[in-house]
Amino acid sequence: MTSQRKTYIIANWKMNFTPGQASLYLHRLSNRVQSSRNLQIVLAPSTISLQPLSLQINRRQFKLCAQNFYWRDFGPYTGETAISQLRGFVDYALVGHSERRYIFGETDKDIRAKVATAIRNDVTPILCIGETALERKNGETKSAITDQLLGGLHDVSDEDLRKVIIAYEPVWAISSNKHAKPAKPADIAEAEMLIRKQIARLYGQTTADAIPILYGGSVNASTAAGYLDIPGIDGLLIGDASLVADSFCSIIESAKGIIDER
Ligand code: 13P
Repeated sequence: MTSQRKTYIIANWKMNFTPGQASLYLHRLSNRVQSSRNLQIVLAPSTISLQPLSLQINRRQFKLCAQNFYWRDFGPYTGETAISQLRGFVDYALVGHSERRYIFGETDKDIRAKVATAIRNDVTPILCIGETALERKNGETKSAITDQLLGGLHDVSDEDLRKVIIAYEPVWAISSNKHAKPAKPADIAEAEMLIRKQIARLYGQTTADAIPILYGGSVNASTAAGYLDIPGIDGLLIGDASLVADSFCSIIESAKGIIDER
């Protein structure tokens, strides 16, 4: 991790926990986690839990993140939630998660509209990108990452890029994938360098050096420290292991240990 950037530990609870369970979990976590400078702990519950958790949460300890939203601000879009409706509750929003791309058919056009809408509403978009197993097998990893990155950032100005976080999540490493296997640090380091290089090409080196890049995919309490040690990786986006308070707290402790060693 590079010293001047913050470290992010983000729990993506996906479609788990009722609002009551989410509240109980947050209560347990609050008693166990001390806030720490340079470490941002972020929880991404289901949309239905955002409002109640926003009343319960100590914002110096945790921030909230939307898992999804629609890119229009209001209107006749049955079943959708606008980021303008969530902005009082959340500081962050996931955009372009592979489950949204491949299960719900979100396109780069949807994703770039969401990135721009989040920024306009003062919510930090966490743009998720990553190749599928097939793309990797076909030697298309670099082009898949580049296409998703440039597609998502298409409408983002130099100034606004400073409000964006990138998460590299290779689809084949995500635990919900039947044949998931953990990514090797070398693969992650290579993707991180490619992402920073592309951002430097478009926005300049200073901006590329400032943007946080996270890793996600089968991270657990025993592998977190190793991933956080990869140069240029500024944090973790965690699915399954964030659903159990013990393992999520151990991951937070690993991050604190690494920050303290710097
Ligand atoms: P897992 O940690 O369960 O692999 O999920 C990663 C992820 O999709 C986080 O957004």
